Amino acid sequence: MDSKLEKVVALAKRRGFIYPGSEIYGGLAGFWDYGPLGVELKNNIKRQWWQKMVYEREDVVGLDAAIIMNPEVWKASGHLEAFTDPLVECKVCHKRFRADHEEVLKAHEKEHKNTSWTQPKTFNLMTEVYLGVTEPKEKAYLRGEITQGVFVNFSNVVDSTRVKIPFGIAQIGKAFRNEITPGNFTYRSREFEQMELEYFIKPDEKESKKTFDYWKEERLKWYVGLGMDKKKLRFREHAADERAHYARFAEDIEYQAPFGWSEFEGIHHRGDWDLGRHKLVYKSDDGEKYTPWVIETSGGVDRAALFFLLDAYHEDEGRLVLKLHPRLAPYKVAVFPLLANKPELVEKAKLVFDKLKLSFHATWDDRGNIGKRYFSQDEIGTPWCITVDFDSLKDNTVTVRDRDTAKQERIDIDKLSSHLQTKLG
Ligand code: GAP
Repeated sequence: MDSKLEKVVALAKRRGFIYPGSEIYGGLAGFWDYGPLGVELKNNIKRQWWQKMVYEREDVVGLDAAIIMNPEVWKASGHLEAFTDPLVECKVCHKRFRADHEEVLKAHEKEHKNTSWTQPKTFNLMTEVYLGVTEPKEKAYLRGEITQGVFVNFSNVVDSTRVKIPFGIAQIGKAFRNEITPGNFTYRSREFEQMELEYFIKPDEKESKKTFDYWKEERLKWYVGLGMDKKKLRFREHAADERAHYARFAEDIEYQAPFGWSEFEGIHHRGDWDLGRHKLVYKSDDGEKYTPWVIETSGGVDRAALFFLLDAYHEDEGRLVLKLHPRLAPYKVAVFPLLANKPELVEKAKLVFDKLKLSFHATWDDRGNIGKRYFSQDEIGTPWCITVDFDSLKDNTVTVRDRDTAKQERIDIDKLSSHLQTKLG
């Protein structure tokens, strides 16, 4: 593993962002648990996404469909037939690899003298589950993409709301894939979360191109707006032979990860593939009936969290700082009494903490000295640290220390909430 990735993996475990799944039983490949700080980071990502994609728009509504659906859905969508990865097996050690990951294959070839590969075989990525208590149990699937739940509810949403084409349905939720080679920390997992928009338009080549380009730019702007380094982001168009079975056209947003340029959001032109397969149509106000086309933006919450962490990880002269955008930071503010053994400082600091925690996710720390507390907050990305000192008792002000500049300013306690709210934006 690359050293920056190793450092982030170690930090994630040590400070409670991400733990290996079922660790005390030896783990389970491709499954991860998010700790107290990880769940905050992930929730903040999802909250920001929902804010931008649903609340700030008049043409998008939300949905939360079931993870397990009637298996007929997956037959119709083509996933049972075509949702596959081509795999080859090393004839020496019998390890399996994705046939389309050339660099990984080349690296493996260096490990043995006489490597040769089997012919590629396709493996379906859908995860089977069995329902019911009596035999024969009913076979079903954990969803391989959250998307089909949107399509099968297309008519429900149209009939129960006032949406009119063009409009979108947004959804966030877990998806499952039987990945043969999970790896690069959470990057390729078997259980992960997706945040997706399915945007429905009237079938039209020109309109679909315009909509596709619009969403491409919107999605890139969203990552950059939340602090991701634009220089480490790029679009990559899918070649015809790598497109998913449902896509007429696709582009990925890639991040320059320590393990190479890596896709973490896809913009897909799905045409009428899905609604057509589910035999669903739209009837416009003037009675015209048609199968809408779909432009999809499909991002991974876990991959976004990993790349936000990698991007935010900085070492400045021995100081480890996680420069997460304040809106993504697990804690917005930490409150300290200058000295833990001075009851008057502790009491005043508690008052500040109790007030702030009503509006911000705040944390309290009275261990060790101030330097150690700053160090501890910097490495989990807390943007502001507030210290109540002896001057606070006299003039009702506190120091607010900025994570990125380490600069301090004195702010009146009564103005603290609005001061932080302004900074948070
Ligand atoms: N509905 C379209 C769809 O699912 P995809 O490109 O297969 O498209 C979308 O997946 C996103 O889901 C990816 O860009 C990635 O962020 C995330 N994703 C896919 N497979 C993943 C895996 N094994 N582990 C973590 N995230 C994954």
